[in-house]
Amino acid sequence: MLEIAPSILSADFANLGADIKTVEQEGIKYLHIDVMDGKFVPSISFGMPIITSIRKNTDMIFDVHLMIEEPERYIGEFAKCGADIITVHAEACLHLDRVIEQIKECGCKAAVALNPATPLSAVEYVLDKLDMVLIMSVNPGFGGQKYIPYATEKIKALKSMIAERNLATLIEVDGGVNASNVQEITDAGVDIAVMGSAVFNGEIKENVEKIYKIIK
Ligand code: DX5
Ligand code: ZN
Repeated sequence: MLEIAPSILSADFANLGADIKTVEQEGIKYLHIDVMDGKFVPSISFGMPIITSIRKNTDMIFDVHLMIEEPERYIGEFAKCGADIITVHAEACLHLDRVIEQIKECGCKAAVALNPATPLSAVEYVLDKLDMVLIMSVNPGFGGQKYIPYATEKIKALKSMIAERNLATLIEVDGGVNASNVQEITDAGVDIAVMGSAVFNGEIKENVEKIYKIIK
């Protein structure tokens, strides 16, 4: 069954602990944490202190999405403050293979994110080292954007690549996913769907139950 990973970028930061509790009580296992540096992407979001604080109050799987330049500088710190999965962008790493090894040496699961226009060939030689590939279905930097339709073809192609090699690598999709397209995306072979605005805009419980009705 499809897993949902609510992105806290769209949560109410004045009540972040409560918002996280609400999604956790809905049985959601993953929490998507969007770290943005204002350079790799046009926005600045938050960093280690926030992750350290929320780590104390939940056992959810922290799916940390680093939208930062030269992420190798901070892998150890994000591991220390509680990341379970660390995702780096292929476009932000000069030495991607080395960064993947670094993430695994820190005891975290390793994932690589691909921007919409970046071909799957960017992960071709490291796919068997990856616990997950994150397919961006929006241009990174903001919540609440529209899903880019060609991401679905990319998901299907990645699914075949993983199947051909008999790997257990998960596929996560990120950006513009909501009740109206989540079934199509699930059918394409996604394992985890990041949802920010679709979960946190308005009534969280209601939003989650609406999505569960579609995917369960
Ligand atoms: C965008 C982030 C996404 C975003 C998802 O750069 O990586 O995780 O917060 O938000 P929605 O689901 O609203 O597109
Ligand atoms: Zn993200």
